[in-house]
Amino acid sequence: MRLTVIGCGYVGLVTGACLAAAGHEVHCTDIDEKRIDQLRMGRIPIFEEHLEQVLSRAVAEKKINYTANAGEAIRAGEVIFICVGTPPKETGEADLSAIDHVARQIANEARTPKLVVEKSTVPALTGVQLQKALAAYSRNGTVKFEVASNPEFLREGTAVEDFFHPDRIVVGVENARSAAIMREIYAPILERKFHCPVHGGTCPEGNSGELLVTTISSAELIKHASNSFLALKISYANVISDLCERIGADVEEVTRAMGLDPRIGTQFLKAGLGFGGFCFPKDIQAFIHLASSVGVEFDMLKAAESVNKQRIQRFFEKIHKALWVIKGKKVAVLGLAFKANTDDIRFAPALDVIRRLLEEGAEVHATDPQAISKAHALVPRAIYHEDPYEALKGVDAALICTDWQCFRTLDWEKAGQTMARRLVIDGRNLYSPKKMQEMGFDYHSFGRL
Ligand code: UGA
Repeated sequence: MRLTVIGCGYVGLVTGACLAAAGHEVHCTDIDEKRIDQLRMGRIPIFEEHLEQVLSRAVAEKKINYTANAGEAIRAGEVIFICVGTPPKETGEADLSAIDHVARQIANEARTPKLVVEKSTVPALTGVQLQKALAAYSRNGTVKFEVASNPEFLREGTAVEDFFHPDRIVVGVENARSAAIMREIYAPILERKFHCPVHGGTCPEGNSGELLVTTISSAELIKHASNSFLALKISYANVISDLCERIGADVEEVTRAMGLDPRIGTQFLKAGLGFGGFCFPKDIQAFIHLASSVGVEFDMLKAAESVNKQRIQRFFEKIHKALWVIKGKKVAVLGLAFKANTDDIRFAPALDVIRRLLEEGAEVHATDPQAISKAHALVPRAIYHEDPYEALKGVDAALICTDWQCFRTLDWEKAGQTMARRLVIDGRNLYSPKKMQEMGFDYHSFGRL
């Protein structure tokens, strides 16, 4: 099928590349001409495992192209995926101006009927507005548009795997014709007829995902309801962690036992610095806002958000207690990305930690396997090191902010020999408190004995 992807950010890049790898002809466009130039030269502007492999295969098979000419891309596809950003406004409400802009552009440029698919995360009822805008701006009302919602459930770092091996594919549609088109688009994935970049020729047996057909409003709601629930789970674990510290229990023992109940599940119960990234913090706010706009007060989400905001303060209480005065101290920050396996620093707790350390007068030495250049552009006052052992030289304390595997396996004996003081404050509970103590470290983490 001929598809158009508008917006070459994280979601658009992964969606376009994976749909092309699944055998479709994909035309991608973006308002950012520089980004399009980069992509045409084969440069991928984000770090995402397997994406390069998927993309180079799609390019070699001439299944994907990038153009800055939106009209050309719009006319080339039968189905148009809108993958533009929906950042938060000051109020927490989602800013839908890019969706509105694209809707007008599609209506103006299309010459034949299109199925327009919301892939960007949008609040419920956006589909209704999108349909209205497409009809209102349609050239003389002659070109007909249908709308669908197809939320993505991709996690950064494992997005390609998530795309090819989904738990579920949700398509919110107006009618059976749109449902059939969406089913055809995802048929290669559901039938596993694609070259899997993650497992080569041997994908694990079992579930290949279920395609759920819903109304558009349900599909929109499913996305926000899922992300908010996961955020709620993390904040719950963080409150349990605070409680563990007060009463002398171990949060990992507690959450592991809780999670063995399949009704609860072990995932997203890791305590620490809390959630960041461009999804949970903004989606939870947009969901609260949407609920309130229709007269439903989502107090439990407000509480989850407030618990998350307090995590940095809780971290600093630990730093102050262990290090005492921050001013004039040399501090290493291990991890800049909001989580492991990505270079994304949007709403990353590590950046809030660094800014506050700098405000309090520390000399900050930061390291991350992927996110240094992005962090440097935002916080140039910190000193950045590619090598974590260099970042740790002569420091009074090491702070762990991201759960990268290379930090988990760091040789602390080696690092400890060059640190001015053997103090580690771990915001991601990466190490065994017992082992760190045995190595002579003053070690602090969240909710553990
Ligand atoms: C999240 C969802 O997991 C995806 O399903 C969704 O498609 C995506 O948002 C989106 O809306 O696009 P992502 O933001 O990539 O994916 O990251 P997660 O793996 O969900 O982690 C979010 C944050 O929670 C990270 O900062 C992570 O460190 C933190 N986290 C996660 C915890 O603090 N504790 C946990 O137990 C799990």
